[in-house]
Amino acid sequence: MNVLLTGGAGYIGTHVAVELLESGHGVVVVDNLSNSRAEAVRRVERITGRSVACYIGDCADRALLERVFAEHRIDAAVHCAGLKAVGESTERPLLYYRNNLDALLTLCETMSAHGVRSLVFSSSATVYGDPERVPIPEDAPLSATNPYGATKLFAERVLADLAAAAPDWRIIALRYFNPVGAHPSGLIGEDPNGVPNNLFPYIAQVAAGRREKVLVYGDDYDTPDGTGVRDYLHVVDLARGHVAALERLGDAYGMRAYNLGSGHGVSVLEAIAAFERASGRPIPRQVVARRPGDIAVCYADPSAAHRDLGWKTTLTLDEACADTWRWQSANPNGFAG
Ligand code: NAD
Ligand code: WQD
Repeated sequence: MNVLLTGGAGYIGTHVAVELLESGHGVVVVDNLSNSRAEAVRRVERITGRSVACYIGDCADRALLERVFAEHRIDAAVHCAGLKAVGESTERPLLYYRNNLDALLTLCETMSAHGVRSLVFSSSATVYGDPERVPIPEDAPLSATNPYGATKLFAERVLADLAAAAPDWRIIALRYFNPVGAHPSGLIGEDPNGVPNNLFPYIAQVAAGRREKVLVYGDDYDTPDGTGVRDYLHVVDLARGHVAALERLGDAYGMRAYNLGSGHGVSVLEAIAAFERASGRPIPRQVVARRPGDIAVCYADPSAAHRDLGWKTTLTLDEACADTWRWQSANPNGFAG
């Protein structure tokens, strides 16, 4: 398959590109580099020994997408492009709604105009809001607790309506839990701008001596050690989930959503301990107040993805920590070199 991969220069997109290329598919990237660097795509080429056509521009730019479809035979799209910082989305909601929804709508319109009806969409466990129970199955109630989450919820709605109106579409929304880790080559990984919002890149920067200590957001949750529990999965496993989804789209008409998670909950303190083991370094931490909007526990019921896509996680948290540490140590300034 020849796959249009939006957001292909980003953290998840680069890993998806590697797994697609290594499975024998072709990849055409569209990315506006608003949160990434072109060097990341060159690293994908280095890992795989394959070349990747890369268009630097916005998915909401219809003329650009028209050019991509004119210059390549596209069989399917994987739509990873989007803004993803929860805090920023609360401060700049219009930016998030405009960017994330315009990109999706323009992509779907252009696909439709060119007769391409197969789409895998980067959704998120954020669509479950504050879950009533864990593990979370796909039919759990959906809600949004911030504008970023609302963009994912609305996007899923758009896709469901599209599939209902035009039954020749085949759409899979993949609801990611907490992707962590890096490619084992150490050539690609997460490269956040400024202070990381998420736990793993923050821990990695503390281990590397770039930051003093991890701030643990609350130890008074109703969890075994009082800290927040999440479902961390290796980004390479996550990326393989996209290949599985694309390859199983086949004649699966309509729109379906699948959880991509390990099914296991890990606390903040357990995550720090795993990273200490992998890096061989002590990781100073300090417990501070809860982060507003955080939930206590979130982990997936990933059985539907196993049943229908033949996918499950195979890599451990220790492997994710070792791979993050390799990436962080070899690239202390990320892709900036
Ligand atoms: P990322 O920021 O590293 O990658 C997103 C990429 O999309 C970036 O390269 C950015 O430059 C590009 N982009 C953003 N808006 C664009 C636009 N309008 N046109 C073209 N390119 C655009 O983030 P990521 O972690 O790789 O996330 C990829 C997708 O997965 C996002 O949709 C995100 O919401 C979703 N997701 C991520 C996580 C996570 O924890 N990383 C969890 C759940 C869902
Ligand atoms: C994990 C745990 C924090 C940072 C977010 C988005 C979600 C999804 C993934 C895109 C929590 C604790 C964190 C720190 C800490 N993204 N923590 N100190 O909040 O589960 O999910 O990213 O869709 O939508 O909300 O991930 O990595 O921020 O936090 O103690 O410096 O680590 O309280 O328990 P989260 P996270």
